[in-house]
Amino acid sequence: MNPPTDSPTPSWHRAIRSFVLREGRLTLAQERAFRELWPRFGLDWSPGVPLDFGAIFGNDRPVVLEIGFGNGDSLAEMAEQDPARNWLGIEVHRPGVGHLLLEIERRALANLRIVRHDAVEVLAHSIPPVSLDAVQLFFPDPWPKRRHHKRRILSPDLVVLLARAIRPGGIFHAATDWEPYAEQMLETLDAAADQFENTAGQGQFASRPALRPLTRFEQRGERLGHRVRDLLFRRR
Ligand SMILES: C[S@@+](CC[C@H](N)C(=O)[O-])C[C@H]1O[C@@H](n2cnc3c(N)ncnc32)[C@H](O)[C@@H]1O
Repeated sequence: MNPPTDSPTPSWHRAIRSFVLREGRLTLAQERAFRELWPRFGLDWSPGVPLDFGAIFGNDRPVVLEIGFGNGDSLAEMAEQDPARNWLGIEVHRPGVGHLLLEIERRALANLRIVRHDAVEVLAHSIPPVSLDAVQLFFPDPWPKRRHHKRRILSPDLVVLLARAIRPGGIFHAATDWEPYAEQMLETLDAAADQFENTAGQGQFASRPALRPLTRFEQRGERLGHRVRDLLFRRR
């Protein structure tokens, strides 16, 4: 992956992605959501056009980004609990996006918007520097096979993008139930100690913050007997 530049290059293209797009079937309700709700709560992504959060949300409140929200239930819950901040979810899976659109409508959330695109490209091209209060990455695909490790989204390259986007004092919060990935995340983030301070102390996992709702993939991990690890890093 190329390093990000201040002037995004629209032609830049990532060869290795952290997801394999399985379109999946939309329910009738999700189809309606794309027709009727996407124009209100969805943001069409185009390279080279930075997201203007003030214009998007109609206010200057802090913005939290969630990468890979899955079905979005936990993101909707957090956005509802914390109306003083704006929330942006990025997900590639269409049924998940449809599901969250319906949750936004059901809960009447005014502070949540969705981008359906590769979050790495969005971070590299469209998120203005120092514009985010926090980024959360919950239960990213673990890609357990060694030959697939290069697909893991949390890499030194992603840390560069996060360091660019998160304001000083802002938080990066990750959680995973895959122990080898948890160790890799900890090592990768601790290696960026000049940019991110480990709030739990160097080499330590954080305790689970009460404000993080149980996610769908976390429940699955718990059923399988996996230990869940949280990582909380503060941008210096
Ligand atoms: C294992 S699921 C976890 C979903 C949710 N966070 C949870 O805990 O239930 C990982 C999700 O990340 C999404 N994802 C993976 N790479 C992504 C990327 N580069 N951009 C956006 N979404 C991505 C996948 O589509 C999938 O829905």
